[in-house]
Amino acid sequence: MAQGELKSSVLNRKRNPKSPVASRSSKRQKIAEHRKSLPIASEEEHLIKAVQKNDILIIVGETGSGKTTQLPQFLFNAGFCREGKMVGITQPRRIAALTIAKRVAEECDVPLGQKVGYAVRFDDTTSSSTRLKYMTDGFLLREALVDRLLSRYSVIIIDEAHERTVHTDVLLALLKKVQRERISPLKLIIMSASLDARVFCDYYGGAKDFHVEGRQFDVDIFYTVHPETDYVDAALNTIFQIHSEEEEGDILVFLTGQEEIESVERLVQEKLQHLPEDERKLLPLAIFSALPSEQQMRVFAPAPIGSRKVVLATNIAETSITIPGIRYVVDSGVVKARTYDPNKGMETLDVVPVSKAQAIQRSGRAGREGYGKSFHLYPERDFWKLEDSTKPEIKRCNLSNVILQLKALGIDDIVGFDFIDKPSRSAIVKALAELHLLGALTDDCKLAKPAGEQMARLPLKPVYSRALILANQFNCLEEMLITVAMLSARTSRNHFVSVEGDHLTYLSVYRDEAKAEKNMRKWCKDNFVNSRSLKHARDIYRQIRGNVEQMGFNVSSCGDDMLEYRKCLAASFFLKAAQRQMDGTYRALESGEIVHIHPSSVLFRSKPECVIFDELMQTSQKYINNLTRIDPLWLAESALIITKQMSDFNASCLNTTSVLSLV
Ligand code: CDP
Ligand code: MG
Repeated sequence: MAQGELKSSVLNRKRNPKSPVASRSSKRQKIAEHRKSLPIASEEEHLIKAVQKNDILIIVGETGSGKTTQLPQFLFNAGFCREGKMVGITQPRRIAALTIAKRVAEECDVPLGQKVGYAVRFDDTTSSSTRLKYMTDGFLLREALVDRLLSRYSVIIIDEAHERTVHTDVLLALLKKVQRERISPLKLIIMSASLDARVFCDYYGGAKDFHVEGRQFDVDIFYTVHPETDYVDAALNTIFQIHSEEEEGDILVFLTGQEEIESVERLVQEKLQHLPEDERKLLPLAIFSALPSEQQMRVFAPAPIGSRKVVLATNIAETSITIPGIRYVVDSGVVKARTYDPNKGMETLDVVPVSKAQAIQRSGRAGREGYGKSFHLYPERDFWKLEDSTKPEIKRCNLSNVILQLKALGIDDIVGFDFIDKPSRSAIVKALAELHLLGALTDDCKLAKPAGEQMARLPLKPVYSRALILANQFNCLEEMLITVAMLSARTSRNHFVSVEGDHLTYLSVYRDEAKAEKNMRKWCKDNFVNSRSLKHARDIYRQIRGNVEQMGFNVSSCGDDMLEYRKCLAASFFLKAAQRQMDGTYRALESGEIVHIHPSSVLFRSKPECVIFDELMQTSQKYINNLTRIDPLWLAESALIITKQMSDFNASCLNTTSVLSLV
């Protein structure tokens, strides 16, 4: 029926082109109808009453019922944004913050960045007139560093709380404290797609929960008979089987990441070429976090009449965003998960089975607008073997960043902090020790002044912040700003190979492009560099340059003296040094792990004796990447400092009462 409506409006437009005013008003009407049709629409009054009555409210509701897009608008209408106050809504993922803010701005018929805006790291579209602010959980946490009581907000909504990202967990605890300390009232709303709200109700001392009735249609669930050896291949076959055998309706396929999604997109296109003309009407669309923002909104638009969309997504489409029109779900049964081993100081990015909760969520996406079908690419017996839910991120990540932020917020007793799930003791000790070695903490585990404060204020990993502080002393701040911006933006660099390593290569890419600025697009194309990442790197550079200038740093350059710059890199990344072994492998000095240079590094072939690296990742092997050749003697100097610092740290910091209980 929806397609019938669309058809007639297209025909209309052809015969009698509508004036912009008319089409705008029809768009407005469509949006109004859509809003009215959402399950949450009939709950507006109840919800507002519940918020007025309760300072903490846990809202649980089926995905797609309108929680994220509608509730902030209800609050605005009920007067929660009077006197310049804001409603803040946090999302674990930046792409959700972006796409939802755009949608809500459209619903409110305002330009993005005025009444409705989003703010994520390195990209803040909000202005003084913003009242509904969508942001990442990490962004709000950082905001608390400057405005401890988050005084501009009347309501804070922690959305997607079931995802239990480390920033969400820290916010859940921090906001409890902020709410107690604030003079002006702060309403706290926790929203979750998981029906099990008990964990949040209990955490807030029996807080009230509110269930939004969803509209879930039946979904037929299918499993494979035998395990699939290649889920990408199986996904591809399933897509085409649905396309040829099933009635109209779009397909949503859950895959693990950008590369896989892009390769499936290509394979779908290729396969389509071999089909007869009338069966080619299948439109593959990708959605993943690194997708450029102008392409993100494409998945939300309806497929052209007579054709079918196949949306290739990461787990972002599980609960954070709802794509209209989906009737068929294909679940690979896997997800990419990051885990951190504090003992080895190593991050692992593995493709792992989803949890039962995720598999059920994925199926549910097929039954939002009508009866649907869900195809799992694994046997039913494997479903029953899945974990019930995913382990909270705080139990499997490097804590140095959040601990530094907590310290900067004046929370000294990390072990005694009121976490909803406590991180492991060894992970806390490891992070404290790392921050101490980086000079962010004093011997007795207090925030070092000014270095620790400066590091907390920069929106970067502590090791990058430290590199900037050191670069200020080595007179190569300009070069280090570029390096950090490039590392944060992840740019390809094939054609600017510097024999000294990846960091210098990044530097020359950035600088050469700057010379060619006028013709940036052409230059990027000629040199096989991704112009979007470079543009992103330039934005990041500008922002962090602003940050360090505010801290009173003078941005100076070492000119052609790359020796100084490399020495500064060695001093900054001394915790991440690796030395070549007899057999050509490397030993990471801190953890003792045997590692390999990643094939994408410019040093992959030359294999220098000693390097510092940015990343240590386990994929098929343990790889180090983003390297620079250094002189091992430079490390000896750092090693002396480390040994001294370690002894001071052990002697005093680890003996303080709270940390003592850990060891
Ligand atoms: O938060 P919850 O999962 O309850 O739902 P929501 O994100 O507020 O989405 C409500 C509706 O808005 C869904 O039907 C989405 O399809 C629609 N939506 C959209 O059409 N375009 C967007 N960019 C975002 C949401
Ligand atoms: Mg939502």
